[in-house]
Amino acid sequence: MTSARAYPPSQFVILVHGGAGDVPAERRALHAEGCLRAAEAGAAVLKSGGAALDAVEAAVRVLEDDPLFNAGTGACLNEDGLIELDASIMDGTGRAGAVAAMPPFKNAISIARAALEDGRHVMYAAHGAARFAMQKGFERATVEALRTDAAFQRWKELRDGRASEKGWAGGTVGAVARDLHGHVAAATSTGGMMDKAAGRVGDSPLIGAGNFADDATGACSTTGHGEAFIRTVFAARARVDSLAADLERMTARTAGRGGAIFVAPDGSAAWARNTASMSYALVSDTTAESGS
Ligand code: GLY
Repeated sequence: MTSARAYPPSQFVILVHGGAGDVPAERRALHAEGCLRAAEAGAAVLKSGGAALDAVEAAVRVLEDDPLFNAGTGACLNEDGLIELDASIMDGTGRAGAVAAMPPFKNAISIARAALEDGRHVMYAAHGAARFAMQKGFERATVEALRTDAAFQRWKELRDGRASEKGWAGGTVGAVARDLHGHVAAATSTGGMMDKAAGRVGDSPLIGAGNFADDATGACSTTGHGEAFIRTVFAARARVDSLAADLERMTARTAGRGGAIFVAPDGSAAWARNTASMSYALVSDTTAESGS
């Protein structure tokens, strides 16, 4: 069930994903539209000569604010019914910032960006991440503010055995971009897995696993079974011209499935998934398209 698509080089390009999984067919257009709104927000930055790093942050904020997706508003709930957020951001020069198992904040990606700019450490976790965020002026959110009815219903169904993880329609979000100056960047944000253990950290905040950027090789953001992407150090090893094969190798090794997006230094791009669906959108100087 692997699907993949490749795009030729562009002056600037942003590619976003709204999560790999099994979104019901009748809802896929909505997810694709949400991705397109996010890609357009990032493309507006790139068009005016802005940095790939600013573009991926802007795109991921749009997806975090969209209740359809499993990040920010709409994030999934852990076994205690609480929200623990994972996010990371990296630019092609090697600067990176990340937060893991962080209590609720509206836009985890901007807290990861604050860590990148601060430069003292790359990653902050749990209450230390919340403390760092508040020191940087971010306002803490309540679980109720970020919890959607859909996420809560799904969590209750899983807790009382009326549903399995299969079919959960939410998704980790991510963006990769190449700017007019030839720099790349990647950003990934998620609530993780529905009903996950408290303290579980997935691939999304881990540089090299769920997110990676290097001006020499390109930028990658992943979605799907986090443990599989961690075990294969996926994002740092993936390449634009082998993305589908990279995913297949991961699945053969770990049995985990998912999807990935990639932008290369020359502005070529690709996405691949080996799940039933993965919403995405690409906007470049020549193309705008979305799908799921
Ligand atoms: N890929 C997202 C997660 O497993 O948390």
